[in-house]
Amino acid sequence: MSAKLQQVLDQISRDMHDSHDWGKVASYIPELGQVRPDQFAISVATADGDMFSAGNASTRFSAQSITKVFTLAIALGRAGDQLWRRVGREPSGTAFNSIVQLEHERGRPRNPFVNAGAIVTTDVVLAGREPREALAEFLGFVRAAAEDDDIHINADVARSETAHGHRNFAHAHFLASFGNLKNPPEKVLGTYFHHCATELTTQQLAKAGRFLVGSNTFPHMVSLDRVRRLNALMLTCGHYDGSGEFAYRVGLPAKSGVGGGILGIVPGKASIAAWSPGLDRNGNSKLGTAAMERLAQEMDWSVF
Ligand code: DON
Repeated sequence: MSAKLQQVLDQISRDMHDSHDWGKVASYIPELGQVRPDQFAISVATADGDMFSAGNASTRFSAQSITKVFTLAIALGRAGDQLWRRVGREPSGTAFNSIVQLEHERGRPRNPFVNAGAIVTTDVVLAGREPREALAEFLGFVRAAAEDDDIHINADVARSETAHGHRNFAHAHFLASFGNLKNPPEKVLGTYFHHCATELTTQQLAKAGRFLVGSNTFPHMVSLDRVRRLNALMLTCGHYDGSGEFAYRVGLPAKSGVGGGILGIVPGKASIAAWSPGLDRNGNSKLGTAAMERLAQEMDWSVF
């Protein structure tokens, strides 16, 4: 498999650079608006413990919503199934930052990956802790999963989002008005903006994602039962209103972020990280998705 995998990744990387339609970088977080769109990287951490990469695989990018998978794993470890009283498990059919459902559904977010849902899981991670401790626990989890301590939060990105995060402030206060936040909204959002501002390379992210592969060779940080459920949520909700399209085109559980990263899982086989900062209209990486589609086809990887 390995010679073929490397060839496939190299070819995909060349083709992505030849395509001149990179999509648009997120500009609602001004700091992310500075990132050059014409960049691409992909890494695969296999169940055999190997790592394959192509493109700018040692360039750090902002993980953003991909961190929601890690905070969800921590929140489930903390609250167990009680978490589902406060957050749903259904695809939203709306944008990641849409607020309309929240009033209809009386402050219970549709799923843990839309912003409102992730703000609630962050509140759970924060329970009984100060933001600094909660973020240390979060970073500890990511670093342990990646077996790499050189993973950090970019405070400038967190500050930039705090200064422009009116919609998330609206979400947090709305949740609080329904009694679905235990901590003050500002404290929860400070923690949320900081975990979203974690920076990693595709190599680090592919390694960090191995705890979701569910193979015996990977670190058992989360039970296999829970790993399956996290993957189910990634498949159905990981790309927001583009989740159906992503499942159709790629056929793998995955989580996107507005920094242009995508973490995809091939159960039992591999963890994939793709990155290209330009986004499509749902806020998911345009070429990252195209690359994952090609990779899944060429390697015959699908959960279906
Ligand atoms: O809350 C936000 O808007 C960002 N910190 C994260 C959004 C995000 O990454 C959506 N994913 N594609």
